[in-house]
Amino acid sequence: MTILITGGSGFIGSALINHLMHTTKETIVNLDALTYAANQQALKHHESSSRYHFIKGDIQDKNLLRNIFTQFKPSAIMHLAAESHVDRSIESAIPFLQTNVVGTVMLLTVALNYWGKLNALEKESFRFHHVSTDEVYGTLGEEGLFSEETPYDPRSPYSASKAASDHFVNAFYHTYGLPILITNCSNNYGPNQFPEKLIPLTILKCLKNESIPVYGKGENIRDWLHVEDHVKGLTSVLKSGQVGEKYNIGGDSQRRNIDVVKLICKLMNDKCPRNAGNYEDLIQFVKDRPGHDARYAVDHQKITSELKWNPHIIFDDGISKTIDWYLENKEWLFSNSKALSDGYQVETKK
Ligand code: NAD
Ligand code: DAU
Repeated sequence: MTILITGGSGFIGSALINHLMHTTKETIVNLDALTYAANQQALKHHESSSRYHFIKGDIQDKNLLRNIFTQFKPSAIMHLAAESHVDRSIESAIPFLQTNVVGTVMLLTVALNYWGKLNALEKESFRFHHVSTDEVYGTLGEEGLFSEETPYDPRSPYSASKAASDHFVNAFYHTYGLPILITNCSNNYGPNQFPEKLIPLTILKCLKNESIPVYGKGENIRDWLHVEDHVKGLTSVLKSGQVGEKYNIGGDSQRRNIDVVKLICKLMNDKCPRNAGNYEDLIQFVKDRPGHDARYAVDHQKITSELKWNPHIIFDDGISKTIDWYLENKEWLFSNSKALSDGYQVETKK
């Protein structure tokens, strides 16, 4: 079986490819535009494998997509390519519209055309798996969880673009019968995450002895899931999920941002003591993110009961190991942080 993975050089995509390369015999085709967020180092060791193919390109490029389908004849697509950072979407929504909406519709269109020409057996087993986010559901008050039935209520340009892409994926199922799956996951953490996101950014700021920006009062809550647990959920859904269905994936680990940042500071004090003082002294409460969603929390009963998936990595352990990884990969962390100071242009790497 050949799986086409879009955005495979990103944080979650690279963890997914590593997992599939290690645990299956599938051939993997990774289509990635190599934007600022891509990380080629994470997949370098697969470059010599005959089961791994990398193609640099944009999911909006129809001709390229057609050629990839013709050449590799995938039996599944796992679609992760996206602009993924909320703050960037607030800065400029257009790249989010282009990649997350137009790119997804382009991929759906070419996939549908390809799927339409398969024989009955191949048609039956083909899957288009769209990897989405819990942010499409909007924000929660003090009580409750997002279930698969929660109405969509996206509130940032990023989540609006992901919600739109989910709707298009559903539309291709209902209108044309394309066999789709959608997963909506909570906040991921782990190795290889681009240091614009809260956890790697906090580690980076500690190492640079710079102030750690906490938005508002730091009371917003996220439901954290280790990326390795996420990719196991993704492969379970691809293998055994019901066509046309969506599955929520969550970590059972709701934490206030300020508590996450303080935990990182505490662990950093032990692992890599600051020359003078405590890393907590670097915390700085800054202007809040506009439209900042108060709380995300995911009810993952459906995937747990149907597919026996559960999160396994306990947050405090996962964070400690994640910090170890960044400390062992400081060079990677610092070189990627350069793209932060370059501003929010979406430029591809050479
Ligand atoms: P990321 O930003 O780390 O990686 C995105 C990848 O997509 C990069 O390698 C980039 O080069 C590639 N890409 C961007 N635009 C492209 C285009 N036009 N054509 C081809 N490739 C392109 O993102 P991530 O955190 O790994 O997220 C992956 C997916 O999972 C996204 O769809 C995101 O919405 C979703 N998601 C992320 C999280 C999270 O916490 N990070 C949680 C739930 C869902
Ligand atoms: O819920 C899933 C989503 O999680 C994914 O779909 C997104 O791709 C991913 O980026 C993430 O979105 P968030 O906005 O929740 O992640 P981020 O790491 O940007 O922020 C986490 C929380 O920390 C959020 O409440 C904002 C806050 N924050 C973030 C940054 C970058 C700060 O307080 N300071 C910061 O500097």
